[in-house]
Amino acid sequence: MVADMMQRQNTQNRTQEKTHFGFREVGTAEKSGLVRGVFDSVARRYDLMNDVMSAGMHRLWKSAMIDWLAPRPEMTLLDVAGGTGDIAFRFLKRAGGARAIVCDINESMLTVGRDRAVNRGLLDGIDWLCGNAEALPLADRSVSAYTIAFGIRNVTHIERALAEARRVLRPGGRFLCLEFSRLTVGALEPLYDLYSFKAIPAIGQWITDDRESYEYLVESIRRFPDQQRFAEMIAAAGLSQVKVRNLSGGIAAMHSAWRI
Ligand SMILES: C[S@@+](CC[C@H](N)C(=O)[O-])C[C@H]1O[C@@H](n2cnc3c(N)ncnc32)[C@H](O)[C@@H]1O
Repeated sequence: MVADMMQRQNTQNRTQEKTHFGFREVGTAEKSGLVRGVFDSVARRYDLMNDVMSAGMHRLWKSAMIDWLAPRPEMTLLDVAGGTGDIAFRFLKRAGGARAIVCDINESMLTVGRDRAVNRGLLDGIDWLCGNAEALPLADRSVSAYTIAFGIRNVTHIERALAEARRVLRPGGRFLCLEFSRLTVGALEPLYDLYSFKAIPAIGQWITDDRESYEYLVESIRRFPDQQRFAEMIAAAGLSQVKVRNLSGGIAAMHSAWRI
C-alpha cells in the first residue's frame, strides 16, 4: 500500500513538474505538444522564414558548424532536431559517401525535408527518423558525430538530450551544437530586443500567418542558458573538451565536445 501511495505521489509530482514554454510556465508533460504545434504550424514556410528573419545569416552559421565538424566520408552523422535537413545536406555535400540520419520529433518538418532531398536528387546516404532528442531511437555508440542546430532549446529536459547525445556517440565521436545565445556586445542589446520582440513576430505573422509561434521562438531564446552555463551542462553530461565559438557577436554560438 505504501508503495502504491509513493507511486501515486511520484506520478502526481511528475505531472506537477514545471518547465518553460517561452516565457510561460507549463507542465513538463505539456511542453513537447506545444513545441510540436509550433513546428506543425510553420513547417511549410519554415525555410523561407529562416532566410527572411535572419537575412540569410542562418546559412552562414550552419556552414560554420559544418566547417568546424570537418566532415569525412567514413563518418555517420546523427543530426537531431534536424527539421528540414539543412545540416544533413551540407554535411553530405562535403563528405561524399558518408551517411546522415536526420532525427526530428515532428513529422511535418521531416516531410518537408524529404521533399527537399528528393528535389536535390539526394536519395542515398540519408535516413529520416521521427524521434525525441530525449529518448533517441538509436543504439548506444552507433554514430561518429552528433549535431543539433537550433533544436536543443525546444527540448523539455536539456540534460536528458545531452545524456542521449553521449550515449549514441562512439568513443572518439564529436558533439556539435548550434544555438541562439547571448550577445557579447552589451551596447547592441536594445536594438536586438527591438528586432526580436517587435520585428520577428510581425514577420512571422506576415509569412506564416502565425505570430504566436515566433513570439515563442524569441522567448525561448531568452530562456536558454548562456554560453558558459550551457558549456557546463555539456561537461556535466560527460562530454569532454568543451569549446565555444560565438557567431555574429553571440547572436548564435557553437559548442563542440567529444565523447572520450
Ligand atoms: C528551429 S527548428 C531547427 C531545424 C533545423 N535543425 C535547422 O537548423 O533548420 C527546431 C526543430 O526541433 C525539433 N524538435 C523540437 N523538440 C524536439 C525533440 N524533443 N526532439 C527532436 N526534435 C525536436 C522541431 O520539430 C524542429 O524541427
